[in-house]
Amino acid sequence: MKLKDSCVVITGASSGIGHEFVKLLLDRGANVLGAYFPGEQCDIAHANFIGFPVDLSTRQGVDSLFEKALKHFEAIDVFIANAGMAYYEKINQADWNHLSDIIDINVKSVMYSAMKMKELYSSKPFHFMATSSIMSYWPLPGYALYSGTKAAVKTFTEGLQMEWEKEQHLHVVFPVATKTRFFQTAGQPHESWMVQSPGHVAEIMLRGLESNKKHIYPSPLFQLCYRFAPWALSFYRKREIKLLRNYYK
Ligand SMILES: NC(=O)c1ccc[n+]([C@@H]2O[C@H](COP(=O)([O-])OP(=O)(O)OC[C@H]3O[C@@H](n4cnc5c(N)ncnc54)[C@H](OP(=O)(O)O)[C@@H]3O)[C@@H](O)[C@H]2O)c1
Repeated sequence: MKLKDSCVVITGASSGIGHEFVKLLLDRGANVLGAYFPGEQCDIAHANFIGFPVDLSTRQGVDSLFEKALKHFEAIDVFIANAGMAYYEKINQADWNHLSDIIDINVKSVMYSAMKMKELYSSKPFHFMATSSIMSYWPLPGYALYSGTKAAVKTFTEGLQMEWEKEQHLHVVFPVATKTRFFQTAGQPHESWMVQSPGHVAEIMLRGLESNKKHIYPSPLFQLCYRFAPWALSFYRKREIKLLRNYYK
């Protein structure tokens, strides 16, 4: 797709991958509406950028983002559901609210946004991109809940792809560990392995969007290991199991 003069909505725009992606979209000549969590600062100042603080973990929040977008744009050409969060934890108790908090933003908000795009544009062309994670198919200890939410995003988008029209493009992204404040928010005390920069991940997402790629894998190294050297990944996983056990002794 051509991004010049297109209208793009992206969530999680104030930090990490989303923030880098906004800059690339603006460089390509797109008009961007970037949503970010209320109270955050979004430092992007550009004639083609509008920032919108909104909590996307509620139906009202997502509805108001669409209202805002349709006030400013004739149509939404691309919706990028990127906002998300994780908990790093060993699950020892049943906590309904804790569960709801992560599912609301990582799953419901993404699914509802995709459903809204379809409702709005029926059989007209558009793009919908969702940020999943490699943990959607290769979970790590400490991230059982998070992995479950990202697996839901993965299979939901794959299912929708079979239902939507040919020109309604779905893209799902599978980043590996990325150097953002993600791990700090999650509460992981140690460094991860195979860490990429958010700029790199955003660049690969941009290329995937422009070339209509369905599945976007920012780390070829991880893909290589997954297929040809699973022992290397098992080794890493064992280290992660040990670390989690030590924290929760
Ligand atoms: N970093 C990684 O290692 C990694 C790996 C695989 C996938 N991902 C996924 O990549 C996406 C972007 O994450 P990132 O790494 O760029 O981390 P990040 O810098 O923490 O960005 C996530 C963004 O989502 C926003 N957000 C969270 N809850 C929200 C809510 N209820 N309403 C509105 N905005 C909300 C955050 O705002 P606040 O910070 O203000 O809450 C933040 O700006 C996420 O979906 C994440 O799961 C990240």
